[in-house]
Amino acid sequence: MSEQKAPEPQDLPTGFQLLEIDPEFRTDPYPRLADLQARCPVRHDPVLESVVVTGYENVRGIVNDRSLWRNPARGNPRALFSRVSEGSGDRPLSILFMDDPDHARVRGPLTQAFYKRAAKMKPQTETIVDEVLDSLSGRAAFDIIADYGVPVPILVIAAVLGIEKERLREFREWSEGIILSLNALRTPEQDQQLMVAAQALDAFFAEAMAERRARPRDDLITDMVQLQAAGAQLSDEEVSVNLQSLLVGGNLTTTDLIGNGVRAFLTHPEQLAALKADPKLIAMAVEEILRWDPPITMTSRIASCPMEVGGEAVSDKEAMITVLRAANRDPAIYEAPERFDITRKHVPHMAFGGGAHICIGAPLARMEGQVALWKLFERFPNLKLADQTLTYRALPGFRGLESLIVEP
Ligand code: HEM
Repeated sequence: MSEQKAPEPQDLPTGFQLLEIDPEFRTDPYPRLADLQARCPVRHDPVLESVVVTGYENVRGIVNDRSLWRNPARGNPRALFSRVSEGSGDRPLSILFMDDPDHARVRGPLTQAFYKRAAKMKPQTETIVDEVLDSLSGRAAFDIIADYGVPVPILVIAAVLGIEKERLREFREWSEGIILSLNALRTPEQDQQLMVAAQALDAFFAEAMAERRARPRDDLITDMVQLQAAGAQLSDEEVSVNLQSLLVGGNLTTTDLIGNGVRAFLTHPEQLAALKADPKLIAMAVEEILRWDPPITMTSRIASCPMEVGGEAVSDKEAMITVLRAANRDPAIYEAPERFDITRKHVPHMAFGGGAHICIGAPLARMEGQVALWKLFERFPNLKLADQTLTYRALPGFRGLESLIVEP
C-alpha cells in the first residue's frame, strides 16, 4: 500500500524538549510523548539528528532486530547519543555498546555466570533489605532514594561480585562515578570524575582477579576467571570492563525502580491496598511499575543498512532512539495506558529493551524490586509522602527522583 507522504505536522516536540534536561518534560514527560506518538510515531528529529521512535510495535521490532548495531560510534557522529560512551583510550567496550561477533563472545560467558549467581540471591537480598530497613527505624522521616534505593542495589551487586565489607565505601563511590558514562551531556569535570572512577575500578578488578586465581571464592569474579581458565575467549580487561558494566547498568536503574515504585504506590493508595490484600500481586506490581514509569526511558540502535520503519525511510548509519516509556504507554497496545493498575492483563513491556542486548540484569532487578517494595510496605504500613513536590533527576535517558522524603 503506497500512500502519498503527508507533510510533517507542525510544532512537534523535538530535541531537548524530549530529554530530562527540560524541566517541564522531566516532571511529566508523558503528555508530550503521547502527542508525538499520536502525530508522528517515527520522526527524523532535526536537533537530536536521530530517528525518534515511540510506537510499541516499531520499538519492539527495532530492539529485537539483531542485524542493527548498538555501538554509538558506528553511527552518525552528530547524533546526540554518539556522545554516550564508556571510559576512554584503549579500554575495550562493555557489552552495553558492543556489536557481534564480540558481543556474543563476551555476553555468553557473562550471562552464564551472572544468571546462576542472580538466581541464588533472594535470601541474601532479604537480609540486606532487612538490615537497611533496621537502619531506618525510629526516624521521623527518611529519603527513599538516598537511604533505601541507593544502598540496596549496591550492597546486592557487591555481594554478587564478592566485594569485602572494608572495600564497600570506596566501591560505592566508584559505582556512582562510573554511571556518568551514560550521561551524553556530561561536563569536563564529570568526564574527569568518570575517568578517576574507571581507573580505580580497573585497578580494583585487576587485583581482585589475580587474587581469585590464587584463592578462588564463592563469587562472580571467581566464576569469570574460572571461565577464562576453561577456555572462554575473554581478555582480563574485557572481564573487568564487563563486571563494571553491571554497576553502570544495574545500580541507578534499580534505585529508580524502587523510587518510582514507592511514588506510584503512595500516590495510588487503592493499588497499595490491593497489594496488601493479596501479596502475591507483588510480581505483577513490579511489572506494572516498569511499564508505567520505567527507569531507563530509551535505548538506541544504529541502522546497519538503509531500512524502513513504520513507512519512514531510515538511512544507513542513522541512529534510532527507541523511546521505551512511550512504547509502554501505547494506546494501541494497553487499555487506558496512563492508569497505574497492578492487576492489569499482562502484555510484555519494553522496560528492559530486547533482542541481543536485552537487559542482562532483569531477573536480579525484578527480584530486588519485589523484595525491597514488599518489605518496605510491610515494615512501614502507614508510610506517606512528606512532601508532594517531586523533583526528577536531569539525566537524559533515566527516570528517577532526586529524593523522595517519606514519613513512616
Ligand atoms: C529496573 C532495573 C533495570 C532496568 C529498567 C534496566 C534496563 C535496561 C535496558 C533498557 C537496557 C538496554 C537494552 C536494549 O538496548 O535492548 C539494559 C541493558 C543492560 N543492563 Fe539493565 N536494567 C535494569 C537493571 C539492571 C541490573 C540490575 C543489571 C546488572 C546487575 C543490569 C545490567 C545491564 C547490562 C550489563 C546491560 C547491557 C546488555 C547488553 O547490551 O548486552 N541492568 N538494561
